[in-house]
Amino acid sequence: MTNPSLLILPGDGIGPEVMAEVRKIIDWFGAKRDMTFDVTEDLVGGCAYDKHGTPLHDDTMAKAQEVDAVLLGAVGGPKYDALDFSVKPERGLLRLRKEMDLYANLRPAQCFDALADFSSLKKDVVAGLDIMIVRELTSGIYFGEPRGIIKDGNERVGINTQRYTESEIARVARSAFELARKRGNKVCSMEKANVMESGVLWREVVTEVHQAEYPDVELSHMYADAGAMQLTRWPKQFDVIVTDNLFGDLLSDLAAMLTGSLGMLPSASLGAPMANGRPKALYEPVHGSAPDIAGQGKANPIACVLSFAMALRYSFDQGAEAARVESAVEKVLADGLRTADLLGEEGVTPVSTTEMGDAIVAALDASL
Ligand code: NAD
Ligand code: IPM
Ligand code: MN
Repeated sequence: MTNPSLLILPGDGIGPEVMAEVRKIIDWFGAKRDMTFDVTEDLVGGCAYDKHGTPLHDDTMAKAQEVDAVLLGAVGGPKYDALDFSVKPERGLLRLRKEMDLYANLRPAQCFDALADFSSLKKDVVAGLDIMIVRELTSGIYFGEPRGIIKDGNERVGINTQRYTESEIARVARSAFELARKRGNKVCSMEKANVMESGVLWREVVTEVHQAEYPDVELSHMYADAGAMQLTRWPKQFDVIVTDNLFGDLLSDLAAMLTGSLGMLPSASLGAPMANGRPKALYEPVHGSAPDIAGQGKANPIACVLSFAMALRYSFDQGAEAARVESAVEKVLADGLRTADLLGEEGVTPVSTTEMGDAIVAALDASL
């Protein structure tokens, strides 16, 4: 049997810092669990632009299509703000998502007990929280045509188009219903059917898929603005939320703060199964390159570590080993270790990015 293959794209800003900690965990699995991954590293984002003049080289794109899973850190930064839109770091990430057809973006928000007091919301509201946002990732206003900035008389006009086909809605709805069956069996679909035709179609198609294929799952619908309000009022009413590309982007950052920090939220972006039965997959933290703290050893590596745990679960069918990583994270938090983004409470121990990674590895050792 050949080893499973991973393409690692650390990217920009804190991306390489958090990915270095994930590398320790990947090495740990090779040394202690007899699970060796064939790892290749490459560039994406601003660093790829610096070397190749493009945020994603065609060779890197081709590699991403071949491997069993891609792990990505983060892209972007102020250095690249003035670049032409077509070569901005973020375009590299969007190209990966689009060309790999990673239509289902799973963004779980779980509040670890040790952080329940830390959230900006009351402890009761977030303690024990475990929800899953399924964000459509390859269509909608992010990719719709026409787009651009045009001249209309004396004025410039910025244009983006929200566009969804039935099949795009149906396939992400199926991902959400399948996940719900393995969790709390509830799906809440969010759109703006009150003002957008694409929202009307979204609601119709989700309802049709539900009736035809998943009548056993409880389905509800909410306007996305009300959904944002309900997510802060009483987030534990939700199990799985399914929503479009843009609403999912906003709602998942909001959900991050229910867990304490953006530095805590992992994600999996999944497409159709490949010939080997594994889904096309890219794993990345929800956060960005955090230019304000890059290079200072302050970044929280947990979102990236938990993204690797999602790879173990969704690409490599190693649910028990994924849970081992999640328990190790839970233990270091329970022990009071906190990176800078989680500081503020009494009696906790401030640690750097590398110290947090080392502590997670030590907790993995202790789990054997
Ligand atoms: P950001 O997520 O990078 O940072 C928002 C805030 O959260 C900052 O104060 C940052 O310090 C903090 N933060 C984020 N991750 C953290 C971590 N792991 N540990 C501790 N603190 C953390 O969002 P932004 O500032 O809006 O964007 C910065 C750049 O990142 C932009 O170029 C943006 O386009 C890009 N971005 C990339 C991705 C990605 O690669 N997937 C996601 C979001 C933003
Ligand atoms: C995310 C990010 C990306 C998005 C950007 C960097 C393209 O915010 O992954 O949430 O908007 O999808
Ligand atoms: Mn985002």
